[in-house]
Amino acid sequence: MSRFEPTDVGWRLGRSSLPRGVELWCRYDRTTGVYGEQGSGKTLDLLAPALLAHRGAGLATLTKVDDLLLTAGRRQRPDQPGGPPRPIAVLDPFGAAPGIPELVWDPIAGCVDPRIAERRAKAFAAGTVTGSVTGGRQDNAARFYAAETAKVLQGFLHAAALTGRTLDHVLEWVANPVAAEQPVEILQQHPHAARFWDGLLAGALHGSPDTVGNTVTTVQQAMALFFQPDIRARCVPSPGRPATDLLDLITRQGTVYLLGRDDPYASAAPLMTAVAEHVLDTALQVANTSPHGRMTPCFLACLDELPSTTPLPTLRVRMANERALGLSFIYAAQTWKQMVVSYGEDEARSLLGLTNTLVVFGGGKDVHFYRELSDLLDDVRVSRQTVTDGPGGVGTSRSGEDVRVLRPGDIRRVPERHALVIAGTAPPILAKLRRCLDGTDGQQLKAELEAARAQVSRARADVVDVDERTAAALTYARDHRLTARPDDVPGGPATQSLRGWPE
Ligand SMILES: Nc1ncnc2c1ncn2[C@@H]1O[C@H](COP(=O)(O)OP(=O)(O)O)[C@@H](O)[C@H]1O
Ligand SMILES: [Mg+2]
Repeated sequence: MSRFEPTDVGWRLGRSSLPRGVELWCRYDRTTGVYGEQGSGKTLDLLAPALLAHRGAGLATLTKVDDLLLTAGRRQRPDQPGGPPRPIAVLDPFGAAPGIPELVWDPIAGCVDPRIAERRAKAFAAGTVTGSVTGGRQDNAARFYAAETAKVLQGFLHAAALTGRTLDHVLEWVANPVAAEQPVEILQQHPHAARFWDGLLAGALHGSPDTVGNTVTTVQQAMALFFQPDIRARCVPSPGRPATDLLDLITRQGTVYLLGRDDPYASAAPLMTAVAEHVLDTALQVANTSPHGRMTPCFLACLDELPSTTPLPTLRVRMANERALGLSFIYAAQTWKQMVVSYGEDEARSLLGLTNTLVVFGGGKDVHFYRELSDLLDDVRVSRQTVTDGPGGVGTSRSGEDVRVLRPGDIRRVPERHALVIAGTAPPILAKLRRCLDGTDGQQLKAELEAARAQVSRARADVVDVDERTAAALTYARDHRLTARPDDVPGGPATQSLRGWPE
């Protein structure tokens, strides 16, 4: 029997500063939700340290390359001295971290199974309703069109898988869904097709032009990344570039990273949400088939910037059921509002209810959320210890007192590198966190980060630059008479002569 390591059962959250001086650990089977504005320390003070200390397989969503480089090196180290290195795979649609092992994923694989097709379609669709951008649309409307989108996509994915078609075929359908007759025919005629799905597909694409138009836009938004050829080439399998074996990666205590970015024009959320669902389903499969009926060590899902990276439709159910199977969840969001936009008020509340440990940073502007937390905490009994140093010697006395410890303003004023921790039934705690870049180990980590950065920028130098590509494209266009003729030019001779038309 090996020595008991606290890091096998939990991760260090910090040290309490009120009440004073208690080490705070968070068990892996307790879901943690972290709320804090951008730059408050969600990643560096909580998610990264948890991921760094964790020995088992994991999934991490990220919005910044630095956050990836911070943990990617250490996550590859053997989990015990002399052991084999642990694998990592990074879904990097934007090519932000060249030279790091890539995750290659086939969105069609498995979709002969209607359940997989449905889950995948719903995940892609859910990614269109992100907390960071909604394209100015009402949240409820966005969720309605996400549901319509799922009906269309599940039909497309299922039809493609049933007939050995590839993502390219699906994209052809997505480019003009209303005109695509093939998928409906396949769903009608193929004996292995899920019944009635042709009806669901046709139903979502016929009706009032406005509704159908919005559905089509949302379907295209869900698959938008794949319409960029280089993104498609990076993420999807091709001859000689097979899909990553997720089952093998998880079994070898590997880490899947999903690297998105905060970009309203090219949200990676639909793709990342779909991949995240697949990774979590694979982890669940490992748990269910393992000798103990659970994952040991546990699988850690670190869902940073949850509403804008991977608004998983299944999160509530997973948090409720899967922590008992060794799947552990830590998620972070900037504001409560973001969660409501992505999930709707009721679902967001259920998620909050299922979050065992809530960590809230100060500095936010969301008074309503702070007030609600303050109400949740209500009055608590604090014990005061009084030390008296009198003529009779030093004496201590304790007294109990009910006070409202934290008013909304107090929560806002929680200082940097500190957070309010509300865990289970325990009284609220003000915790001092340890930023992973601080201290001696932090210096070491910083040096590793610098080295990884240098490596990535060397790899980036190999990418063909835009001037070269422009030159090559223009050469082709000239050779094939694709360039604009003089009469094509706005304001050119043709227009001139029109203007000069005699009255
Ligand atoms: N490489 C770095 N070195 C020093 N400080 C950093 C570095 N990266 C980020 N920080 C600082 O650490 C703070 C917390 O960052 P982070 O944990 O990324 O915030 P969040 O995840 O909540 O947006 C920020 O205020 C940021 O300025
Ligand atoms: Mg962060």
